[in-house]
Amino acid sequence: MMKKHAQALMEMKGRTPIAMLTAYTCPVARAVERASIPVILVGDTVGMVEMGFESTRDVTIDHMTYHVGAVRRGAPETHIIGDLPYLTDKDPDTALWNARRLIAAGADSVKLEGAKTEVIRHLVDNGIAVVGHTGLTPQTAKSFTKVGRTEQEARQVLEDAIAIQEAGAFMIVLEHIPYDLGATLTDTLGIPTIGIGAGPDCDGQVLVINDALGLGDYWPPFSKQYAHVSRTILQVAEDFAGEVASREFPNNIIAFPGSGKA
Ligand code: KIV
Repeated sequence: MMKKHAQALMEMKGRTPIAMLTAYTCPVARAVERASIPVILVGDTVGMVEMGFESTRDVTIDHMTYHVGAVRRGAPETHIIGDLPYLTDKDPDTALWNARRLIAAGADSVKLEGAKTEVIRHLVDNGIAVVGHTGLTPQTAKSFTKVGRTEQEARQVLEDAIAIQEAGAFMIVLEHIPYDLGATLTDTLGIPTIGIGAGPDCDGQVLVINDALGLGDYWPPFSKQYAHVSRTILQVAEDFAGEVASREFPNNIIAFPGSGKA
C-alpha cells in the first residue's frame, strides 16, 4: 500500500469512505497497516486507554513522541496523525515546536483540538499538515456529553469547523455531536469530516482501537466492540496460572505458525 498524503486523503471526500483507527504501539500499528487502513491516529486518548490517567490532560509531548515512533516502526507505509497534547498548542510558536517533534518522531500530520485558527495557520504556513477537531474536545470539555444539541451550540460547532477549514486544516474530526449536525458539516465543508459519534454521513469514521478491540473496562456508547480482548487476556492469564500450578507448562508448548519456534 502506498502511503496517502494529505492531498490524497482530501481527494477521498465524496468518493471513498475513510477508515481511521487509533494505534499506540508497534504490533497494533503493524496489523492496522496490514488491514490497509489508510490513516492511523496516535491520539492523546493513549493517556486514558493505555496509561491509566483520568484525563487526556496528563499526556505530554514526550509520551506522544514515544508512541508516534512505535507506531511508525510498525506502519511505515501508513499516514500517521500525531495528536498535540494539552497546552502544547497554546500559542503558534509553542505549537510549531511541538508539531515538529511529532513529525520528527514519524508523524505525517498533526491534530489539535478547537478553533485555534492562528495556531493552525502558523503550522500550515510552516509546511505542517493539520487535522482539526471540533464537537466534543476532551482536553477542555467539562463533561463527556454530546455537544451541539441546542441551536446555539450547533451554530458554534459549525462556525468553529468553518474557521478550522479556513485556517488551512486538510481534514477534521467531529466528536460526539448530533447526527444531523454531522451531516450538515459534511455537506458544508470542502475537507473530509471524520466522525466519532457524529453519525453515518461523515466522510470517514474513526474508532479508538481499544474500544474496537474491547480492551479495557469502559467503551463509549457510540463505539463498537469487534472483539473482547479484555476477556481473552483474563482467560490467558488464568490458563497460564493454572498450567504453572499443575506443571503442565512448559511441557505442553505447541509451536504457533509464525512464532519463530522450530
Ligand atoms: O485522541 C484521540 O484518540 C482522538 C479520537 C477520539 C478522535 O482524538
